[in-house]
Amino acid sequence: MRDLETFIAGLPKAELHLHIEGSLEPELMFELARRNNVALPFGSVDEVRAAYAFSNLQDFLDIYYQGAAVLLTQQDFHDLAMAYFRRAAADGVRHAEIFFDPQTHTARGVPFAVVADGLLSAMAEAEADLGVTSKLILCFLRHLSEDEALATLDEATPYLDRLCGVGLDSSEIGHPPAKFARVFAAARERGLRLVCHAGEEGPPAYVWEALDVLAVDRIDHGNRSLEDEALVRRLVDLGMTLTVCPLSNLKLCVVNDLSAHPLKRMLDLGLTVTINSDDPAYFGGYVGENWLQTARALSLTEADLLTLARNSFTGSFLSPDEAAPHLAAIDALAAK
Ligand code: ADE
Ligand code: ZN
Repeated sequence: MRDLETFIAGLPKAELHLHIEGSLEPELMFELARRNNVALPFGSVDEVRAAYAFSNLQDFLDIYYQGAAVLLTQQDFHDLAMAYFRRAAADGVRHAEIFFDPQTHTARGVPFAVVADGLLSAMAEAEADLGVTSKLILCFLRHLSEDEALATLDEATPYLDRLCGVGLDSSEIGHPPAKFARVFAAARERGLRLVCHAGEEGPPAYVWEALDVLAVDRIDHGNRSLEDEALVRRLVDLGMTLTVCPLSNLKLCVVNDLSAHPLKRMLDLGLTVTINSDDPAYFGGYVGENWLQTARALSLTEADLLTLARNSFTGSFLSPDEAAPHLAAIDALAAK
């Protein structure tokens, strides 16, 4: 294998599982708190980082929603997204499909348009200045009701032409995908693509529901699918892309050690897996670090890494024509 770090950095990659609010670095959190006169429950950046010790998803979500309280203006959302795009570009990310949680912001009185306009202006700037293309996915918070999700979809109506899809995130256990059957059907009718967090902490039954009830185009995480052989067969037959997030899984205690991460097993079973960062400011690394640490911990081969890079584009919502140049660049690297 060529030098691993250089090889990974040079591989064209798409990131398909990134919560933009989860890219809020403590330094920017403090800067925005000052700019917006928002009180933070932390005295310093070091204190914030010290608080990032989680024993499960809910531990993390509590602190993540608290951090998002500093985001108030269109400029805040623009700055947040640009900071992410700069880091992603440095890691060889050529395309990103980013999640945002509008309900986290509208509940605090921040209008949907402020959030969406700030993110969309950063996406345009990232394409022009960094050559990174992107798409925007609106996530519903699954701990809230389906009626609240339907109201959020209505609020998004003026932006439907600039949204790529909808997703489902937040506390998984106790909030199965089927709870959101109507809003996902409504989103599909409006031409949106569908994704859903499933099988991160929740059981294989939630992955089945995401497939059979919501009819999703992609599964976010999906780790616990491995507990159900018939489900693995179904995912392989569908060619369903799973957006796996190794450092997130480690930080949220979905796995005890990266060397025990199921990603290599998933690849060997023929599942279409990708490597993503989830909430990089909270989990200790952006996409490049996720690739590098996972490759080392699981002794991934060059062929594995090439497959992961290809999967990130074939599993994206780019059209085949848009994905083709990226796939050709990966093939050219493979042939070297
Ligand atoms: N929101 C942000 N990150 C999340 C994750 N990993 N799972 C569920 N909801 C989230
Ligand atoms: Zn996630």
